Amino acid sequence: MLRIGVLGSGSGSNMQSIVEAIAAGTLDARVVCVLSDVPDAGILARAARHGIPHQYVDPAPFKTKLEGLAEERVIGLLQAFGADTVVLAGFMRVVKPGLLRAFPRRVLNIHPALLPAFPGLAAWKQALAYGVKVAGCTVHFVDEGIDSGPVIVQRSVPVRDDDTPDSLHARIQAEEHQAYPEALRWLAAGRLRIDGRRVICT
Ligand code: GRF
Repeated sequence: MLRIGVLGSGSGSNMQSIVEAIAAGTLDARVVCVLSDVPDAGILARAARHGIPHQYVDPAPFKTKLEGLAEERVIGLLQAFGADTVVLAGFMRVVKPGLLRAFPRRVLNIHPALLPAFPGLAAWKQALAYGVKVAGCTVHFVDEGIDSGPVIVQRSVPVRDDDTPDSLHARIQAEEHQAYPEALRWLAAGRLRIDGRRVICT
């Protein structure tokens, strides 16, 4: 059984999809804590509704990364709650080597694009602006780069002529809510092997 610690900055819909998969009996895991760098983030309220331990961690003095005292606090909390797997679910900060060293090959992220296309912020807007006809999402192991770690699963969606950023994002998010539980199911079953850049699902 995976013991998942979730880090998030936003609404928490991906965290919810993981909690629902666990409740439905399709994912052998437990969400042991939810931590956020945003005090009023929806993900904290959702965690509260599900009775999951949750906490705001002040990220100061950094604006875009998790480092220093905040990183130490996050690692300490994850360890105190007994997490063995860290799930970044809409966490809007770059994680640094300290967290990766504390949870080697056990930090996952979800990105709203088919990587390596459109890393970084608001990837669905980048995809729409570029004019691609297929968009999607990627679940990957986190390495020291930005949205650059080995890919576990990708799901695609069509881009429609009348799409707005919101409509495309909603279509991508519906796939995210399938992709994250699926990747975690494979991880929980011990089926994922990393071979260089490639993740082999046995
Ligand atoms: C998702 O689109 C995810 O791909 C991106 O941030 C968003 C988080 O949404 N990294 P939510 O907080 O899980 O609803």
